[in-house]
Amino acid sequence: MPSLSQQIASRRTFAIISHPDAGKTTLTEKLLLYTGSIQTAGSVKGKSSSKHAVSDWMDIEKERGISVTSSVLQFTYNGACVNILDTPGHQDFSEDTYRTLMAADAAVMVIDGAKGVEAQTIKLFKVCTLRHIPIFTFVNKLDHDTRDPFDLMEEIENVLGIGTYPMTWPIGSGRNFRGVFDRNSRHVIAFEGDGHANATKRVGEIEAELGDPQLDELIGEENHRTLVDDVELLDGADNEFDLDAVRHGRLTPVFFGSALTNFGVEPFLKDFLRLAPPPLPYTDVLSGEPVDPTRDEFSGFVFKIQANMDQRHRDRIAFVRICSGKFERGMEAWHVQGDRKIKLATGTSMMADDRATVDEAYAGDIVGLFDPGIFSIGDTLCAGRDRVQYPQIPTFAPEHFARITQVDTLKRKQFVKGMEELSQEGAIQIFRELGTGMESVIVGAVGVLQFEVLEQRLQSEYHVRVSRSPLPYTIIRWIQNSPDELDVRSLNLTRDTCRVEDWRGGRLLLFKSQWNLDWAIENNPDLRLSEFGNIT
Ligand code: G4P
Repeated sequence: MPSLSQQIASRRTFAIISHPDAGKTTLTEKLLLYTGSIQTAGSVKGKSSSKHAVSDWMDIEKERGISVTSSVLQFTYNGACVNILDTPGHQDFSEDTYRTLMAADAAVMVIDGAKGVEAQTIKLFKVCTLRHIPIFTFVNKLDHDTRDPFDLMEEIENVLGIGTYPMTWPIGSGRNFRGVFDRNSRHVIAFEGDGHANATKRVGEIEAELGDPQLDELIGEENHRTLVDDVELLDGADNEFDLDAVRHGRLTPVFFGSALTNFGVEPFLKDFLRLAPPPLPYTDVLSGEPVDPTRDEFSGFVFKIQANMDQRHRDRIAFVRICSGKFERGMEAWHVQGDRKIKLATGTSMMADDRATVDEAYAGDIVGLFDPGIFSIGDTLCAGRDRVQYPQIPTFAPEHFARITQVDTLKRKQFVKGMEELSQEGAIQIFRELGTGMESVIVGAVGVLQFEVLEQRLQSEYHVRVSRSPLPYTIIRWIQNSPDELDVRSLNLTRDTCRVEDWRGGRLLLFKSQWNLDWAIENNPDLRLSEFGNIT
């Protein structure tokens, strides 16, 4: 039996971040294929159908019949126990997507080689930088015409502000895609597939050294010449591979490939597992010290709460990132925010019939706990005598705003309760305009679908009907100055900028456009603003 520290050292917990359609689902599927978690790959369909709003992973689950909770996918490969955290992308993009990144020890950034760095990738990347986790880049769709790889590197560096270190280098793209050069082994791994979208098997790889005349035949004379020049340029550039910079999120190792045709996925996975860190320590805010993941006592924090899909039951599932020790089903732990001891029951109600309940799990893993309504996002659980408390999860900037007003004023109590509980789950954020009451509330959401979910749930679970009118704000900023230091009413702002408070009493400003935000910054030199709320 592996020891506790061996179990934990073998964990790799990461999230895949990308703009919709860059290939996150396809890459995930191919990782499962390589690791033997599934036997055959096929396109994960469902985008154009009504299933669109459901996590892509549920589609994988339905089609493949493999065990995927709605939050994490676990498999073992070469002695590593790998957890991939789901970061919903399309219409179900929400604050949960951001929060999940708080539970990851590394991120894989998938970039469409033709499109480069896109909007959603930028947002997700910024969240990763809050924790300085390592970020690995997979430039995808090389079987299609892509942009010049040097341009792509430059764009990543300039737009995201992270250094790049190509681990592999592409040979052509589109019809002319011939493979990648592995800079570490100095071998060419040739692309043998026919490039057709439906290639479902592993693609053969042929290794040959740069300069080998064989390569002229294999990848073409001109490609060979270009590759020699490119590699000379890369080797000449003076950014060394620096593991420390990778581990602290200052340098991203870059891989090229084509998830669809399975090319470049295996070298990527191998290097990723070699370079990605085992579970990282989280800081205990009580002592200010990092908590060793391998210490005996279990501890963790809630990063996501999901309502039960069965509407007859109010209970929810709280997803906990284990930060130290070992979790055992039914164990007792201290719920720090509730200030009491509770029994930890794994949530089985959402699981498919064939899915086993989690009996034990280790630091780095995610467990879904049954939640009768006692947990909030960010709560800490810990066993043993030494109590710890993990930092609050930041609140992330919503991009869509609406005013929600209750239609039947007699149901005020239910309305307030519903809004509070739903915001506690973290699907929406509620704001109060300074100087107004609770009859009408400003609601902010990261994904627009959340508004519909809110309306439906208020009606079905709390029997409250509301009306919704969209608000024109697009940018939100938390005020960092303390109330003693700065009175919000005295700020010099454009007339259409709105002053609000969040439910924790944090003070914020809502802006219609970048122009209004710039105005606020220029005209209030002492004002300090943040894109994230609740950062400790
Ligand atoms: P996402 O999860 O990041 O949103 O992307 P997803 O994997 O669903 O891929 C988006 C589309 O891009 C899919 O096509 C997928 O087949 C395609 N794709 C992914 N990787 C590659 C690649 O390496 N090369 C090429 N050429 N295409 C790739 P779709 O038309 O939306 O779906 P489908 O009808 O093909 O399933």
